[in-house]
Amino acid sequence: MTASHPQALAGRVALVTGANTGIGRITARELARQGAQVFIACRSAERAQPVVDEIRAIPGAGAVELLPLDLGDFASVRRCAQAFLDRGLPLHLLINNAGLAGARGATASGFELAFGTNHMGHFLLTQLLLDRLKASAPARVVTVASKAHYRAPGIDWNAVRQPTKSSTGLPEYGVSKLANVLFSAELARRLAGSGVTTYSLHPGVVASDVWRSVPWPLRSLIKLMMISPEQGAATTLHCATSAEAGRESGLYYDRSRPKQPSAVAQDAALAAQLWKRSEDWLR
Ligand SMILES: NC(=O)c1ccc[n+]([C@@H]2O[C@H](COP(=O)([O-])OP(=O)(O)OC[C@H]3O[C@@H](n4cnc5c(N)ncnc54)[C@H](OP(=O)(O)O)[C@@H]3O)[C@@H](O)[C@H]2O)c1
Repeated sequence: MTASHPQALAGRVALVTGANTGIGRITARELARQGAQVFIACRSAERAQPVVDEIRAIPGAGAVELLPLDLGDFASVRRCAQAFLDRGLPLHLLINNAGLAGARGATASGFELAFGTNHMGHFLLTQLLLDRLKASAPARVVTVASKAHYRAPGIDWNAVRQPTKSSTGLPEYGVSKLANVLFSAELARRLAGSGVTTYSLHPGVVASDVWRSVPWPLRSLIKLMMISPEQGAATTLHCATSAEAGRESGLYYDRSRPKQPSAVAQDAALAAQLWKRSEDWLR
């Protein structure tokens, strides 16, 4: 798979979570522009329709469709996966992009809001689509994490089952992004030899809606360092489409290059424990 030709992804099928805005919107649009059939999995059909219209207006773009998905609600994640599976299509690119930062509370499924949305929702979605990904190999699972994972000292297994404790939600966001990096690495170990490869990444600090819940003084500081959503989608697209990345699996990327994640994120025992606990929580 290579992105150098405009129709390089013709015949490929992609599913992008949270593609109604920000980095996910650009990712879905660029995959479709390269000819992929793209499923946009979002909470709000109303907010996603303009992206569908935008993609349909691109000459030669792949087909695009909406799938309802609320990552905080396991029943919704199951319905989304089933709706995709029922189409009987292959799945070559799963882009676990959706995420929230700096929000507080708990998900409908009873997890800390960031952990439940950013990690648990994508963990379940990936599990449900795994057989289809394997049957479609070569296939890739790209999980948009963050450099915020470097600040997470580990995972407090009790805290992730309770509403957000901190006043900013940012420590919890870091933990959810650590979980994204650990999940992607563990998935690679479990998929070794299957033809399905995995990637986690930091997209850059991007001027998107993700900061909407962060208190203003902090948000204004963060905004000083921001890049555009187009620039922010570059590393996701590299992981999803470049021939070079296709020869790698389980790595963490920044600026379209592999980078060492935190020491905690490289702890294979912790990754295995997160996998086991996530599986148990779904029972
Ligand atoms: N922006 C940055 O600087 C930055 C830095 C590092 C990492 N990231 C990561 O990049 C990814 C994309 O973020 P972005 O910057 O593009 O943010 P964004 O513009 O806020 O987009 C986030 C997307 O996730 C969706 N989402 C949130 N909660 C969801 C849920 N429960 N179910 C389904 N979808 C949900 C949002 O849907 P709604 O519109 O319905 O809320 C939206 O489509 C996230 O994983 C984020 O953590 C971003």
